[in-house]
Amino acid sequence: MKIKTHYCCQNCGYSTAKWLGRCPGCEEWSTLVEEVDSTRSPRTENPLGELSKQPPWVPLEAPPLKAPDDNSAGGDSAASPQHLKRLATGMAELDRVLGTGLVPDSFVLLGGDPGIGKSTLLLQMAKGLREKQKDLRILYVSGEESIDQIRGRAHRLGVIGEGHIFLAAETQLERVFSVIQEVKPQVIIMDSLQTFSSNALESAPGSVSQVREVTLRLMALAKSTGVAIWLVGHVTKDGNIAGPKAVEHMVDTVLYFEAEVGQAYRLLRTVKNRFGSTRELGVFEMEGEGLREVPNPSSLFLSERKEAVPGTAVSASLEGSRPFLVELQALVAPSGLAVPRRTSVGLDSSRVALLAAILEKHMKLPLAVHDLFFNVAGGLRLAEPACDLAAVAAIWSSYAERALPTDWMWIGEVGLTGEVRRVSQPELRIEEAKKLGFKAVVVPAGVTERIRNIAGIRLISISRVDELHSRVLKS
Ligand code: TYD
Ligand code: MG
Repeated sequence: MKIKTHYCCQNCGYSTAKWLGRCPGCEEWSTLVEEVDSTRSPRTENPLGELSKQPPWVPLEAPPLKAPDDNSAGGDSAASPQHLKRLATGMAELDRVLGTGLVPDSFVLLGGDPGIGKSTLLLQMAKGLREKQKDLRILYVSGEESIDQIRGRAHRLGVIGEGHIFLAAETQLERVFSVIQEVKPQVIIMDSLQTFSSNALESAPGSVSQVREVTLRLMALAKSTGVAIWLVGHVTKDGNIAGPKAVEHMVDTVLYFEAEVGQAYRLLRTVKNRFGSTRELGVFEMEGEGLREVPNPSSLFLSERKEAVPGTAVSASLEGSRPFLVELQALVAPSGLAVPRRTSVGLDSSRVALLAAILEKHMKLPLAVHDLFFNVAGGLRLAEPACDLAAVAAIWSSYAERALPTDWMWIGEVGLTGEVRRVSQPELRIEEAKKLGFKAVVVPAGVTERIRNIAGIRLISISRVDELHSRVLKS
C-alpha cells in the first residue's frame, strides 16, 4: 500500500498535498514539512474505550452523567449537581483566575516560557486539590522528567499524595491513555504538550500535527469522561516546535504564566476562559520552597523610593476585579536626532506617542525635539486607558523637572482633544489608593459627585490636560 503524505506548515498548520517553498497560510518560508497521513481517525474513537458510558445525547434539563468512579470530586455537597461543583485548588490566586475554582470536566492549557514555574505551579496545585478534596485522584504525567525527579521536586514542595496522587513518566499518548484507564484519576496534569506524541501520526513530537492530535484526543477525554485536564505548553520561538498558540482554540481555558526578566514574581494571566472572566490576574512569587501567593499585590509594582523625583506618577490599573497601583515613569531629554527617540516598556508605544502628541498640542510641550523614554515600574503591562492621565503627568513632570507629590494618585483617560475622561470603577481604585496611604487622587471632573462619600481622601478634579500645572498642582 502506498503511504499517503501531505505537507503541513509548522508555523500555522496549513496543509497542502504539494510541497511549496512559501506557506500560503502565513507566508513564512520553508515551514512546510512532509507528514504521513493518519491511517485511522482516532478522533472518532472513544479515547478510553468502555470507560465512558455516557450516551452522546442527554435531555436538556437532566444534569450530566457522572464520570465512573467520580463520586467524590468536589467534596461533600452531594445535593448540588455535579456540573455546578468546582474543585478548590487550595490556592486563592489560582481559583480566582480560573473563576472560583477548577471545573471538573474542563480542559485547561497553561502556557509559559521554559523555566518560568509551570511544573512547580501544577505540583503545588495537586497538593492543594488533595488537601481540599480528600478523595480526589490526581495523575501527573511528565514527558520531561523521570519519576525520581518529579518525586524529588514534589517532596521539596511538600506534596503529600496519601495514595491519591500518581506519577507517570511517559511520552507516548496511547500508553498515557492506558495509564489513565488504570489509575482512574479525576484530575490529569500533562507536562508538557510538546513532548507527547500519538502513534496514529508519523510526525515528530512537537510538530503542529502532533500537538493538535494530542490536544484533540485529550479534549475528547475530558469531555467524555468528566476529568479535568491540565496541559502544559512551552512558549517557543523555534518554528519546529509548535507552541500553545496552535491549540488555544481547542481548549476551555488558556492561562499564561509570565515574568519579567530578573523579577521573582510571576503573573498568571487568563487569555481565554469559558468558565469565568479573562481579566483576572494571579500573582505569585518564586521562592526557595516553591511559589508563594501574593494576595495583596497592589503595592508590588510601586517602586520603593520615598522622596519625590520628577518624572513619575502613580495610577491604578484594574486587572479583573482587583486594582493594582502602578508607577509610571518618564524621562524627557533634549534630542540631537532628526527623529527623536520614543521607547516604551509596559505601555503600548503608539499610546505613548499619542499622549506625547496631545501634550505637544495642548500643553505646548516641545516634545518633537526631545527624546521620550517611558516605563511602567515593576514590569506590569498596562492595557487600560485609565492610566493615561498618570502617563501625561509623568511626562510633564520630567519635562518641567518638577516632582509631583508622592502621595497623589492619578486616574483618567486622555482624549485627542486634551480632555480628561472618566474611567470605569473609580471607587475601587480610589479605595485602594486610600488603603495604601495616598492622600489625594486626581480624577476626571464628573466622577467626584458619585465618589464623594469615600472619606479620608482628597479628590482633585481635572477636565483638560492643560489644567495640570496651571490649576491642579497649585490646588
Ligand atoms: P519549573 O516549574 O520547572 O518551570 P517550567 O515547568 O515552567 O519549565 O520551574 C523551574 C524554575 O523554578 C527553576 O529555575 C528553579 C525555580 N524553582 C525555585 O526557585 N524554587 C522552587 O521551589 C522550585 C521547585 C523551582
Ligand atoms: Mg516543567
